Amino acid sequence: MPGKTVDNTNNIHSILVVDDEEHIRNILCEILSSMDYNVKAVENGQEALIEIKSEAYDMIITDLMMPKMTGLELLDCVKAIAPDIIVIMMTGFGTIASAVDAMKKGAYEYVLKPFKLDELVYTIKRGLEKRELEKANVQLKETIALLQLNDAIASGIGEERILGIIIDVTLKEIEADVVTCLLKNNETNKYETRLKHSKEKKYFGKLLGEIDCESIDEMYEQGEVLLLQKKEIRKKFKALPQAKDIVSFISIPLKIKNKVIGTINAYSFTQGHYFTDGQCKAAAIIAGRTASIIDNAQLYENVQNTFKDTVKSFAYAIETKDKYTHGHSEKVALFTELICHAMELPDEDIERIKLAAQLHDIGKIGINEEVLNKPGKLTIEEYEIIKGHPLMGTRILQPLHFLKDIIPIIHHHHEKYDGTGYPDGIKGADIPLGSRIISVGDTYEAMTSDRPYRKGLSHAVTVTELVRCAGTQFDPGIVKIFIKIMEEGYKKK
Ligand SMILES: [Fe+2]
Ligand SMILES: [Fe+2]
Repeated sequence: MPGKTVDNTNNIHSILVVDDEEHIRNILCEILSSMDYNVKAVENGQEALIEIKSEAYDMIITDLMMPKMTGLELLDCVKAIAPDIIVIMMTGFGTIASAVDAMKKGAYEYVLKPFKLDELVYTIKRGLEKRELEKANVQLKETIALLQLNDAIASGIGEERILGIIIDVTLKEIEADVVTCLLKNNETNKYETRLKHSKEKKYFGKLLGEIDCESIDEMYEQGEVLLLQKKEIRKKFKALPQAKDIVSFISIPLKIKNKVIGTINAYSFTQGHYFTDGQCKAAAIIAGRTASIIDNAQLYENVQNTFKDTVKSFAYAIETKDKYTHGHSEKVALFTELICHAMELPDEDIERIKLAAQLHDIGKIGINEEVLNKPGKLTIEEYEIIKGHPLMGTRILQPLHFLKDIIPIIHHHHEKYDGTGYPDGIKGADIPLGSRIISVGDTYEAMTSDRPYRKGLSHAVTVTELVRCAGTQFDPGIVKIFIKIMEEGYKKK
């Protein structure tokens, strides 16, 4: 059969000729090849369908009257499988009415047989221009999506959600079946899937997994973007059985300061849906934006961590003044973390509540040391001063915007479940969950530790006290969980 091998990795247009007459196929292949198009010819509609399912074509030039499957039937199938392909009908004088029908069904144009060469060339060029315009339109839509993405980023939401939006935008705009984001784990030096989004979960089992990145790492170092179509995917990933189901694949490195830190991969499993160069470019722009977001987020996290460490060292500074309270906040944080895990709270919440526990008594910095460390009974006035520490904590932390979520937890850590606590006397579920959790850990730690005026109480006595005050001072559910944790821990010992 005449014609070149179809190669869709460059910008050369690919044309499929469908005609049952061999001399027509030969003539068209010769003409189109001489015009530097990639061209292939088949003799019937069924072969044409097999071809467009395995390769990406820009245009089909098909005869109208053919045995087995007519040009109109082929047109219907093409529009269902790959609606973007430009279809030109070839027809004799007697079938012009059918050719007009074909145009109503979505064919781009018809040419009369025997065709005049210049007319045919003109029609093909115009058709391919239309195809390019449509691609440009897709790119415009992608640019709009990128602008929307910028808006989301500017609104200052967290890294995880931004990555989610990026993956969704990519999924929608390039009409992918699955988009994944993999980030390099510096310890294992492997790419790990951070996020994967899909319209249908059934595709998740068909992904190339972590291996794909390993094998294309070298190309990434050279800054290349991969756009692979069906056969090329099978060739590139021949060791992976799942490669046979992938119709089109884009893989783009996420680079920060010329170092590859991850990858965005887009998959098409839909027959006839091949990613275009335009879509690949759009995905590359999105990936570029993603890399800078991750970079900024990491930088921001570093700054935040430095701040948090500084604040923590302030909080611990107060404890070093008094050997009896030394290590109190860390122990309370440990109990708090255990309770949070037992309650199966989300990681973000655990992180927040644990930090609040580490800082819960930071307000004591503002209290006179003599009052704070007084061995005997406190006067009413002195007790009022001590009671001011949650409020003082709020005042100390208020200017630190990134700690805004933990301030209410610290503010309310001395509230009681029945509303008789301080500073605001709120009760039950009105008290932030983190405060209710810290309250239990804080009391247990304080009661079991030695104080200037008494020895630490035993575990059994402290637990009895916690149970006695469940429902009045403490959230009873949390007390129950805490006792279970402690008893399981003791059993282990
Ligand atoms: Fe406290
Ligand atoms: Fe405390």
